[in-house]
Amino acid sequence: MTEIVHKEAAVPVKSHLGEFSGRDLITLEDYTVEEIERLLTMAEGYAEMLAQGERSSSLTHRILATLFHEPSTRTRLSFESAMQRLGGGVISVANAPASSSVAKGESLPDTVRIISNYADAIVLRHPEKGAAKQAADASLVPIINAGDGTGHHPTQALVDLYTIKEEKGHLAGLKVALVGDLRYGRTVHSLAGALGRFRAELVLVAPPELSMPGEIVSALRAAGTPIWETQDLWEVAPEVDVLYVTRIQRERFADPWDYEQLRGCYRVDLELVAHARREVIIMHPLPRVDEIDPQLDGYDGAAYFRQSANGLPVRMALLAMMLGGQ
Ligand code: NCD
Repeated sequence: MTEIVHKEAAVPVKSHLGEFSGRDLITLEDYTVEEIERLLTMAEGYAEMLAQGERSSSLTHRILATLFHEPSTRTRLSFESAMQRLGGGVISVANAPASSSVAKGESLPDTVRIISNYADAIVLRHPEKGAAKQAADASLVPIINAGDGTGHHPTQALVDLYTIKEEKGHLAGLKVALVGDLRYGRTVHSLAGALGRFRAELVLVAPPELSMPGEIVSALRAAGTPIWETQDLWEVAPEVDVLYVTRIQRERFADPWDYEQLRGCYRVDLELVAHARREVIIMHPLPRVDEIDPQLDGYDGAAYFRQSANGLPVRMALLAMMLGGQ
């Protein structure tokens, strides 16, 4: 059994799979393109293993903690399922503000410091941007950022990269439209940077109130990523390989009236898809509200349920690489 490596260890022991041992995942910039490629390849192996009904026991005796201060369905449950599919155990706080000592006023660093004595890695979701980094500074074990407010959501971006590669065969040279709430949506903040590093072209489709933060656009431009910004989804539809649609992030608006003005600003339906490229795929990190017509669910290019299923093998690969199992 590979020894569990905590961040305190001066030189983390690295097996060929445990190359992420002792490292946090706060943003995808924490990993190189080559490391991400290896993870995606490993995820393919896990997808095959799952399809054949096989199980792994590579993380037996390891424990994953999930600490969620915001609602979650896919992210938390796919992490927990991934850990159990690898033979490991899970301890879980699903609604931290109500069910943990957060309700008594405990600080995030204190909570994380304590939990890091009970688990080998912690998956954290928190409403504040920067919370994952703050937690990582207090934790004895790796922190995986499962969404820090309007900041980042790196494991969703891994799932998204995997899905595009699986559906389209490659990433470089693809034209990907990111549609909807690019201001508050953390999934697109992580995905935009990742697509740029994998040499895709970006089309940013949002109303002015919800446009992609300037610092993200500038960083992408400085890195040489081709970017086109527009508000017009109908103009974009026939030009792109991927339509990545997002929910307007209601919980981030100070004034509900502002949300109501923007709700429904884009809707992808059969009519729009008929106007798009024949091979276009539709993605969404989910949950959807009214941005994708359920009538599209039966369409071949509707990739969003396959995308959410991919959360399992991708998170299995991440955990195996972090916790050193095979
Ligand atoms: C996203 C999130 O939490 O940022 N959900 C997810 O993890 N798939 C997207 C969203 O809530 O709109």
